[in-house]
Order: sequence, then C-alpha cells, then structure tokens
Amino acid sequence: MKSLTTTELRKLFLQFFSEKGHTIIPSASLIPENDPTVLFTTAGMHPLVPYLLGAAHPAGNRLTDVQKCVRTGDIDEVGDASHLTFFEMLGNWSLGDYFKNESIAWSWEFLTDEKWLGIDKDRLYFTCFEGNENAPRDTHSHDRWVEMGVDPSHIFYLGAKHNWWIPGTSGPCGPDTEIFFDTGKDKCCESCDPSCSCGKYLEIWNNVFMEYFQPINEPLRPLDRKNVDTGMGLERTVATLQGAGSVYDTDAFTNILDKISELSGKKYNDDEDTIKAFRIVADHIRTATFMLGDPRGVTPSNVDQGYILRRLIRRALRYAMQLGMGDNSLSRVAEVVISDYGNVYPELEENRKHIVMELNAEEARFQRTLVNGMREFERIKGKFDNGIIDGRSAFRLFDTFGFPIEFTEEMAKENGLTVDTAGFRSAFEEHQQKSKAGAEQRFKGGLAEATDETAKLHTATHLLQAALRKVLDESVSQKGSNITAERLRFDFSFPRKVTPEELKRVEALVQEAIDAHVDIVCEEMSVPEARAKGAIGLFGDKYGEKVKVYTMGDYSCEICGGPHASNTGDLGNFKIKKEEASSAGVRRIKAILVPKE
Ligand code: ALA
Repeated sequence: MKSLTTTELRKLFLQFFSEKGHTIIPSASLIPENDPTVLFTTAGMHPLVPYLLGAAHPAGNRLTDVQKCVRTGDIDEVGDASHLTFFEMLGNWSLGDYFKNESIAWSWEFLTDEKWLGIDKDRLYFTCFEGNENAPRDTHSHDRWVEMGVDPSHIFYLGAKHNWWIPGTSGPCGPDTEIFFDTGKDKCCESCDPSCSCGKYLEIWNNVFMEYFQPINEPLRPLDRKNVDTGMGLERTVATLQGAGSVYDTDAFTNILDKISELSGKKYNDDEDTIKAFRIVADHIRTATFMLGDPRGVTPSNVDQGYILRRLIRRALRYAMQLGMGDNSLSRVAEVVISDYGNVYPELEENRKHIVMELNAEEARFQRTLVNGMREFERIKGKFDNGIIDGRSAFRLFDTFGFPIEFTEEMAKENGLTVDTAGFRSAFEEHQQKSKAGAEQRFKGGLAEATDETAKLHTATHLLQAALRKVLDESVSQKGSNITAERLRFDFSFPRKVTPEELKRVEALVQEAIDAHVDIVCEEMSVPEARAKGAIGLFGDKYGEKVKVYTMGDYSCEICGGPHASNTGDLGNFKIKKEEASSAGVRRIKAILVPKE
C-alpha cells in the first residue's frame, strides 16, 4: 500500500479517472446555488443535481472532481479521531454513461493496483443493498465484486439505512455499494461487520447508482437514465494510507497543529483534553477559513450560514483560550490554512486579507460580549429555583450576549445547573422564522400589496436579472428587491460600476423579451426539479415543500412566490433610470415601465 500525501492522493485520483475518459471539473462553491434546502454543499453531488436529473453538462457525461464539503451535523463530535466539519470529497461521475460494471471495476483497479493505491485486497470489505419494496437486491454489484476477485465472505448485504443514498429526503437517489478498509483492530463482538461503528471497518468510498428520483410525498420513480455518483473522503483515505490513528495525524494537519503549538506553548499530545482542544481549533478554523474565503463568502451573523460560521469561530475561540493562545491567534492559524491550501483553492489566497480581518473582528466582538454575558449569567444564575435555566433565558444569553448554547451549558454545569436546550431551540427557531419573514418582506418589497402595476414591475425584475446575467456575468445574483407602484429597485452582486453601454444592452434585452409577447408560466415543483429546469433564485419556500417556478419563454426561469403579469407584452416600455453602488460588491438599479402609446 502506498503512503500518499493529501496532495498526491488528490492528484492521483484525478489522473486515474482522467485516463478513463473523465473531464476534471473544479470544485463548486461551498454555498449551494439556488437550493434553499441545504445551507452548505455536503457532498459532491449537490452542485451536480441538475445534471443527474438529465440536463446536459458542458464538460460531458464522465466527470471527476474534488469537492469542498461542510457537514456540521456532528459538530459536537469534532475532537475525536474521525470527525471533521470540512472535508474534501473525491468523486467520479457518469451522467447516463457507464454504470455498475465499469464503476466497480475502476474502483477496484484504483484501490488495489500497484500502479495506483496498491491496497492489499484482503483488507477491503464491501456492502451492497439487500433490497426492499422499492428496489431489488443489488446482486449485480455483489457479483461484480466477486468477478474482481473479492472473497464473498468480504461482501455484506445491508438495508436502506446503510446502502441507499439520497440527499436528505428527496432528489436523485439509488442503491450504493460501499467500500471499507479493515484497520486491523479486533472485532468488537461476534457479529461485528462493516455496519458496526466500533472503528474496525472504516468506510473510504461510496459508489451510488442513481437510477431513481424520490419526489416529495410521492412514490419513488425511475430516472430516464442511470447515473453513477461516487464519493471518497480525501482526509480519511489519506489517514488509512498513512496508517495514521486519526485524520488529524496526517500531513493535512501537520502545519496547522504546529502553529497551534507555537501559539499556545503546548504540545499536541500532552493529554486528552489538550488533544481535543487542538483538534477543535484546527478543524473549526480550517472550516471557517474555507467559508470566509469562498467565492460566495459567508460572514459571521446570527442566521443561516453566518450562524454556523459564528458558532465555529466562537467554539474555536473558547478552546483557544483554554490553550492560552493569546489575541488574534485564530487568524494566524487561518494563515497557515491559506498557505497549505492556496494552490488548490486560489480563492483562499485571493481573500487572505478578508479572512484574517473577519476572524479578528469576530474575536473582538466575542470578547466584548463575553465579559457582559458572564456578568449577566452571574446575575441570573440564582433565579432558577428548579436548577434548570429555561429556554428563553438561554436564548437571551445567545441573542443579546452572543453565547453559543454550549457555552451556557458549560457554565451551567460549573454552577450545578442544567439548561432547557429544547426550549432554547424553539426560541431560536421562532427567532429565525421571524427574521426570515422579515428578509422575505425586504426582498419582495411592495408586493404584499399586489396590484397590476407591481406585478408587472416584478416581472420586469426577473427579466432584468436575466439580462444582467447575460450582459455582465452569470454570477450576478439578486441581493434585494423593492417595488412600489411607480418603480422597481433591484440590488445585485457585481464588483464595479455598470457602464452606460452595458446598461443600454441590458435595457434592450429586457425590451426584446417584452416585445416577444411570451406567456408567463407558473409551475409548482420540488427544488431539485426546479434546479434541473435551470431555475435561478434563492428565495424558495422551506425544505420539504414545493416551490413555484416562473418561466418567461427562453428569457427567464426563476423560483419565486409571484405574483406576475400573464404575458411579457403587458409590460410596455422598460427604462433604466439609475445605476449606483448599494454596498460593498452590490450595485443597485432603479427602473420604470412606461405604457406603450
Ligand atoms: N453522494 C455520495 C456520498 O456522499 C457519494 O456518500
């Protein structure tokens, strides 16, 4: 077995699949585009959903990539040997091209051939889907592994809980076959197999055969074409190849941990608490650096992605303080992350200053509130007769004093109290819903009082966004919209002033769509379906519900709540009145509609 570095494995994987006719595509953003169902890209398949559902991918139907991913569901587990909030997923994709035979044969070749990873085949174990009322037992994959030379005693059939892959509860999905590495540890019990979490078997690769689509609240149906989506965890596989006891004990973390050691004056391996604190700071700052440095960058806030980022930074800070790391040390750890990853992810180098500045600013903000929060905690701690800090009080500490809930829990514990975390969660959700409603109102502007005029201006806003994306850049996206009976106001991301000549072209494109007199069609569908249709727009309804998609011929297709005019021809003449800066990186256009004579 080869002991590869992180850089070497990344390169080797892409080289292997490129030799098998795959086009190498770059990692997509960590922030999903036009998908309000997830806050972050959690697997390589997220950015590719439209193509798995049938849209043509410009790079062809065999793709390979390394995708940046964030999963924060297990944030409290970080600190153990295997959990990470940020990781890289190596993937190869067939969009209606090859299927199980090639997928399995290539995985086998890459893992076991001396030219590639050269893993001893006796250390590999496999699982296949056992079948249920929805889909048959996957004997095809089982038999294919046997054809490769796998001993049948190394292959296990498991149920949908283990071997059916779906992003959340709806979307493209199918049975998978998973590949495990035997760490050599003793079996934990007689029945220990790859489904066991004792750590003997480590999952390193998952081949998903996406041949179904699961709509919301409807039965599963077959897709028109069969796809392959595979995911290999880079950090985990490197740990396996390097024989490391944990993902942190690989080259991916050497420089980061050294920096923490330098800043704290402590050794990583001092004791269990120190190991945990080092790992938490290392993991969280690596993730925060990628979030802040993403092309669709996130900044710390109290909602959505910004909240997750804030929580990571503040949690890292807590452990950094425990280690005695001193002021502004998080940003110094981030500088190491940027240097380590900058050649693979140039956006980190490009955003170096911004990353450092935001980390220092969040640290300063947190330190200011920390003192007041501690004082507030001391003031209220005697008030809880039953020994339980109620949800509202915990939420107040969070909302007003910036205390992450686990902070409050820890201080409560030190004072012989507990916290009503369920009550905290419901207070938090109530707050999020309120701020979402507020945001939607902001974006939809005067549409609460829909009239014919505002509906027409709203339609013009869609055509305007589509035209801006055509004339300026595909990455232009809506940052806000406000409509009155007289005018529309549209804010969008764009780094510079729009030239008069560009504005003319935008205006002409909108007018062309109006003069084409196309009917405006509204359809309801799931978010994956909307994305497959190429719909843009971030302000869809909540997860699990259908969204409305408004299509205006070939001119515009957008997720939106409406209402709109019924034909673009109703709009009259479109005139841009003003273009100006709104805030950093955001431009604002004001425009009107004038009835045709
Ligand atoms: N989409 C599959 C996974 O994330 C490959 O495991």
